[in-house]
Amino acid sequence: MRSLLFIPGDDEKKLGKGVGSGADALILDLEDSVSAARKSAGRQIASQYIAATRALETRPRLYVRINALDTPLWEDDLTAVMGSAPDGILLPKARSGEDVHKLSIALHHAEERAGASTGATRIIAIATEVAVSLLKLDTYVDASARLEGLTWGAEDLAAAVGAQANREPDGSWTAPYQLARNLCLFTAVAANAQPIDTVFVNFRDEQGFRREANLAARDGFTGKMAIHPNQVAAINEIFTPKPEEVALAQEIVQAFADNPDAGVLAIRGNMVDRAHVKGAERILSRARAAGI
Ligand code: COA
Ligand code: MG
Repeated sequence: MRSLLFIPGDDEKKLGKGVGSGADALILDLEDSVSAARKSAGRQIASQYIAATRALETRPRLYVRINALDTPLWEDDLTAVMGSAPDGILLPKARSGEDVHKLSIALHHAEERAGASTGATRIIAIATEVAVSLLKLDTYVDASARLEGLTWGAEDLAAAVGAQANREPDGSWTAPYQLARNLCLFTAVAANAQPIDTVFVNFRDEQGFRREANLAARDGFTGKMAIHPNQVAAINEIFTPKPEEVALAQEIVQAFADNPDAGVLAIRGNMVDRAHVKGAERILSRARAAGI
């Protein structure tokens, strides 16, 4: 998944723009973008939207962001949406891998009640919104077979810390939030989950948005969350492997297939060893997922 578009789960008008947005995934939000008074309506609207959208022949993947596990809301969120079989749940404010494990057990029971195949519902965790989670990132590594992606958030973390700002005047992240971002990247890779970059809230600043997305793709994030449909096309473009990247990856994989006993080869004047083959295979699998 390259692009994951957030849509407030109670907003039928915006939901109506979801399928046509071109996003690989939609995240129907029941958390921060839905007021307390609208939670109940949001659950029903999101559930109906999932059921209707699942019936389409081609559709984006469908995720629901439930409320955090230390609220009295998340169990009702799950009860309302699991009958419609979302592809996954986005878990905000995760405190450690234990929260992922706890959610996984709740999903197991919900799947059983719904008569769905158990284990089908995936989990993406937001792993840096709560300070203690940063101290326990290793616990995400074996938390659950459902863990599909890991992402990070700077807004809730900055609020928790009481920071005056989380960006420098030039728009780059300040050091504490760079740390959260970078640790999210390594933790996701260690957990065999997709590293997904966080949202860029100034949706009129296309240049700043593209700069941040390019840096994320360069560093190894394989997708980014969007808050506005006008961010989706750029995300899809930036996180799709470039033709020259794909060509080089094919060349590397082919060269080692042709020379099964080689440990190291020279390709285009560079030393290439088995470590590069792994990277090349990863690029090819992302290119296939993007349909190229
Ligand atoms: N998903 C689907 N459609 C969206 C959308 C979204 N996330 N954000 C905006 N749109 C629609 C608008 O409804 C509008 O439709 P219209 O042309 O038919 O009126 C169109 O896209 C253009 O929107 P625009 O006027 O530029 O923005 P806005 O002022 O209506 O909305 C936000 C701005 C930030 C409130 C809105 O983008 C939004 O709700 N984003 C998601 C918020 C969220 O889920 N946050 C939680 C995660 S951080
Ligand atoms: Mg939040």
